[in-house]
Amino acid sequence: MSTYSEDTRIRKVTTQRLLEMKQRGEKISMLTAYDYSMASIIDQAGMDVVLVGDSAANVMAGHTTTLPVTLDQMIWYAQGVRKAVKRALMVVDLPFGSYQGNSKEAVCSAIRIMKETGADAVKMEGGAEIRESVERILSAGIPVMGHLGLTPQSINKFGTYAVRAQDEVEAQKLVENAKLLEALGCFGIVLEKIPAQLGKTVAETLSIPLIGIGAGPYVDGQVLVMHDMLGINREFSPRFLRRYADLHATIKDAVKQYIRDVKSRDFPNEKESY
Ligand code: KIV
Repeated sequence: MSTYSEDTRIRKVTTQRLLEMKQRGEKISMLTAYDYSMASIIDQAGMDVVLVGDSAANVMAGHTTTLPVTLDQMIWYAQGVRKAVKRALMVVDLPFGSYQGNSKEAVCSAIRIMKETGADAVKMEGGAEIRESVERILSAGIPVMGHLGLTPQSINKFGTYAVRAQDEVEAQKLVENAKLLEALGCFGIVLEKIPAQLGKTVAETLSIPLIGIGAGPYVDGQVLVMHDMLGINREFSPRFLRRYADLHATIKDAVKQYIRDVKSRDFPNEKESY
């Protein structure tokens, strides 16, 4: 829970408020952001959770996986977002290589994020295999959000972005990992690309909020990558994605018009000149 807001008129979303939303059956909205300008719009629109996702590696830097983004780069993105987000809970992804395998390094990474960005919480991918890191970060007083199902930082192990946990063994393991993360003290978990019925089972089994991306309608909230849902990025169109705008076309048309106006000497006109 955090109270980071200089504006006392704004009732900030906290981890406690998310829990209360789950308890009264109010769905939680969550969206990614990576810069000040877009984060301002998203926060002012009333988003509950803003995630500075390591999907920045894809949509901001053009990498094919999330693996290359560094802790320093995540901190840079998050600092811009922090200046804009006044109301939403702001969660920052711990990037690949900053917490796996070494819990001491994990807590140092999480502390850097909290100190240098003013984030409200961090998100980490995995279950039992990152238990020690999760425990250590939580013991430092840093709220942790888990991430199970399709965990993109492990894409090289999976070898595919296909739906996860379709068989009984993997589904059971996911439920156990979700229970473990709750028992350790995580305030919520993202469930990515799993069958809707499994999402339902996990959401009904756990008391903490479960936020889905391709996890069906029965979980406690939904998260999408901003560039995908706004139609900026056209290359990615999985079944779970709903596009709310076609900004690719809107921006391209505007840019083309600007080029035409410059070439034809229509811009700038007299009113636009000093
Ligand atoms: O990095 C990200 O954008 C994420 C979402 C897909 C949940 O982790």
